[in-house]
Amino acid sequence: METNMPKRKEPGKSLRIKVISMGNAEVGKSCIIKRYCEKRFVSKYLATIGIDYGVTKVQVRDREIKVNIFDMAGHPFFYEVRNEFYKDTQGVILVYDVGQKDSFDALDAWLAEMKQDLGPHGNMENIVFAVCANKIDCAKHRCVDESEGRLWAESRGFLYFETSAQTGEGINEMFQTFYVSIVDLCENGGKRPITNSSASFTKEQADTIRRIRNSKDSWDMLGVKPGASRDEVNKAYRKLAVLLHPDKCVAPGSEDAFKAVVNARTALLKNIK
Ligand code: GTP
Ligand code: MG
Repeated sequence: METNMPKRKEPGKSLRIKVISMGNAEVGKSCIIKRYCEKRFVSKYLATIGIDYGVTKVQVRDREIKVNIFDMAGHPFFYEVRNEFYKDTQGVILVYDVGQKDSFDALDAWLAEMKQDLGPHGNMENIVFAVCANKIDCAKHRCVDESEGRLWAESRGFLYFETSAQTGEGINEMFQTFYVSIVDLCENGGKRPITNSSASFTKEQADTIRRIRNSKDSWDMLGVKPGASRDEVNKAYRKLAVLLHPDKCVAPGSEDAFKAVVNARTALLKNIK
């Protein structure tokens, strides 16, 4: 008789998790999931209506993981449907299109929507975020480069991947790392494990690189008023050089930012008596 009984699973070995996809409409959320689960790509755009739901099983180390995937519609029209689904999530696939700057700029608004719907007791710290810079196959149209995306993600302690649902590049690696991180989180008492990348540069460095990228001229880049003296320019330069020197700073984009600061200083000093 006992042989007909369902085998009892070893306690602690199986795990059920919930992951959701997030990001603007048309960035490729559904295609990323389809590429991983069904190994195919659909080039025709079929907008997700509200939510698509699927279940899959994966193996992480000695654990069998049952994954409930909620693929969300990115269109603002579906906000009322989405907001039911944020709670009890262990992992988020946060997607933007590298050829659509708007979709990258919208990432903060997506985090804000989730935070708002989780309410005052919701905790975003215990969720694994995998940021996908998608459609990298469309290199010609790319307007958000890797260092900008990586900096945004890693300065928040999120994972970052360059992906193409069309070619499959980066997709398996993203899901594997994502699931391992979620299992690590569950085994770590629900706290996001500190990744090497998130610990390796400071918020000040990340903010400074972002500020330098967005500066409108050399004065602005060095953070001095137009018409500042040689001393003021040199002082500002030294401060930035210490913060961003490639020997000291490993934040994505730091090398370019350092070079830009060197060039800005040279250009300004040429014209100051
Ligand atoms: P919503 O469901 O409306 O939120 O959109 P979505 O983010 O799920 O986008 P979807 O996966 O439906 O893809 C939108 C369009 O982009 C489709 O025409 C896809 O074929 C195309 N697409 C998705 N991923 C890629 C990619 O990596 N490369 C290229 N070239 N096209 C892609
Ligand atoms: Mg979709």
